[in-house]
Amino acid sequence: MQSKFQQFKTDFEAQLHTVADRLKLEELRTQFLGRKGKLAELMKEMGLLAQDQRQVLGAVANEVKTAVEAAFAQKETTVRAQEDAAAAQREWIDVTEPGSWPRAGHLHPVSTAIAEISDIFSRIGFSRVRAPEVDWDYYAFESLNMPKDHPARDDWETFFVKQAAGSRQQAAGTEDERIHHELQAASRPLPASPDMGRLVLTPHTSNSQVREMEKGKLPIRMININRTYRRQSDVTHVPMFHQFEGLLIDKDVTIGNLKGTLDYFAKAYFGPSRVTRLRPHHFRFTEPSFEIDISCGLCEGKDSAMCRLCKAGWLELGGAGMVHPNVLKAGGVDPKVHGGFAFGWGVERTLSMKSGMNLDDIRLLYKNDLRFVRQF
Ligand code: PHE
Repeated sequence: MQSKFQQFKTDFEAQLHTVADRLKLEELRTQFLGRKGKLAELMKEMGLLAQDQRQVLGAVANEVKTAVEAAFAQKETTVRAQEDAAAAQREWIDVTEPGSWPRAGHLHPVSTAIAEISDIFSRIGFSRVRAPEVDWDYYAFESLNMPKDHPARDDWETFFVKQAAGSRQQAAGTEDERIHHELQAASRPLPASPDMGRLVLTPHTSNSQVREMEKGKLPIRMININRTYRRQSDVTHVPMFHQFEGLLIDKDVTIGNLKGTLDYFAKAYFGPSRVTRLRPHHFRFTEPSFEIDISCGLCEGKDSAMCRLCKAGWLELGGAGMVHPNVLKAGGVDPKVHGGFAFGWGVERTLSMKSGMNLDDIRLLYKNDLRFVRQF
């Protein structure tokens, strides 16, 4: 019986030696030390012996039990430590490592330009207004001193909206009717009801001029920035583009005021070294009319004969002039009392003329090529 205890101890130690994880250790405990384990069996066997034999064996049994339990406890500590160390190694993280940032997007360069332009004009008191982007022929042409079939209209290669007939009777529930109601809500209750003509995709932002005057509040200092459409596409034109329109109506407005406003804009947007000049031109809705040039940002007027960007040191920016009396009349403004100036041109064009832009094809702005857009 004594040797059985010794054998038990030897077996246990041999097995304990091979154990390397907690699971195996637990199995071993059940097998050797559990309620129905080997030790329990030996103890039961011992209980069947005579009293004197039991006493001798009891000491042996206790010794074995104590030794085995101690060895087990020690092993348990080691295994636990090893497993914890392995887990720590496996699950190690560097809490000081910089995180991975989601890639932040940014506004499209045209949106940025629009925000910048409206900000520049707001600083000198021009408030941003918005006229419809799909509007009546009347606001886009006729009220701007361009009678029906006037050849001056040819300069605006206009898209007309189909089916929206000159008559104001449209079939109920159609898209035409929806646009019609929107436009009516945006315009005055028509007095002598001029013929509104057809619907057009506005080819310039000048439709905002008479619309703003119709609101009946003077003086006016407005800036209208909106989408515009013309049937054209080449390196300097896209069929959908943006324009901004400035209109100032007040008493005693001079060309000097116009020139000062344009110079202010040129310096604020393009940089302090840039200047503008006015060249005589013709528009039906301004008198006198001008084309505005801005000094070239590439050659700065020096050696301009060699410049690949400009003609003789100047770049053409857009149109401007003193508001024509007929336009004032159409807007309900008395030309004997009030006058004003207007100017307007393309946002994309303005953007492309910024120093360092080097944009040699304006269509790139609308190609949705991220390699291009991400450069800004
Ligand atoms: N609307 C004109 C254009 O698109 C520009 C312009 C605006 C000219 C205002 C004079 C006054 O070409």
